Amino acid sequence: MKLLIMGPPGAGKGTQAEGLVKEFSLVHVSTGDMFREAIKAGTEMGKRAKEYMDKGELVPDEVVVGMVNERLSQDDCQEKGFLLDGFPRTLPQAIALDEAIEALKINLNGVINIDVPRERLMARLTGRRICRNCGSSYHILFNPPQQEGKCDNCGGELYQRSDDNEEAVSNRLDVYENQTQPLIEYYIQKKLLKNINGDQEINKVLTEVITSIKTTSNISDYDDSLPSCC
Ligand code: AP5
Ligand code: MG
Ligand code: ZN
Repeated sequence: MKLLIMGPPGAGKGTQAEGLVKEFSLVHVSTGDMFREAIKAGTEMGKRAKEYMDKGELVPDEVVVGMVNERLSQDDCQEKGFLLDGFPRTLPQAIALDEAIEALKINLNGVINIDVPRERLMARLTGRRICRNCGSSYHILFNPPQQEGKCDNCGGELYQRSDDNEEAVSNRLDVYENQTQPLIEYYIQKKLLKNINGDQEINKVLTEVITSIKTTSNISDYDDSLPSCC
């Protein structure tokens, strides 16, 4: 299965992705995580991306598209399927993704849109903590770890992302509304969009997403092959 998960910063894309990749045995492809790994590794791309990320701006399309195309063509994505998180974020990225999946002779099965009102997002992001070791996401109030500052999954140290301060978050939310939200209409037109209310308890959101994947006809179609005409 090949899926996208969309939604504004703080909607819960990463949180839901953790449950979804387990449920459907998919590869989680998060462009934000890939950039953070590149920053940690000190690569040239990481250094370039950090300048944009810290301000809450988008990394240029050509950088992101090249990185995603390379990742999706790797064997694990081909064999297990994937859940794309944080990509596409602009119309040129969406068009590039269409071209990439056509070249790989695969189909997109569905697009999950996690819908959360803007006024909820600032608190979610400024209270978020992430495991430095395995990347699991927590919230100091809404999803606290059992032991403060430590990851439940691996015991790793929890940290706050450098773009989770009020100024960067506010810019990220504006950038989302201007550049990414229009893609909702793009995927409605393609009859792929499934809208989920993300303003409810984390497990309730997960149950709704899983149910929608299993019951929506074009998403529950596990046959990824293109029609014979293609
Ligand atoms: P990215 O890492 O993708 O960040 P984002 O889109 O801003 O989204 P977040 O990861 O902040 O939010 P999320 O929806 O994953 O929420 P989470 O589950 O963690 O991108 C970062 C940057 O990289 C971008 O700004 C850009 O610079 C660059 N970039 C990445 N992709 C790019 C692209 N394609 N093009 C160009 N640039 C790109 O949850 C948030 C918090 O809320 C957590 O604390 C969680 O515990 C809590 N929470 C989750 N669900 C609930 C719930 N239901 N109730 C209460 N709390 C909840
Ligand atoms: Mg995320
Ligand atoms: Zn961890």
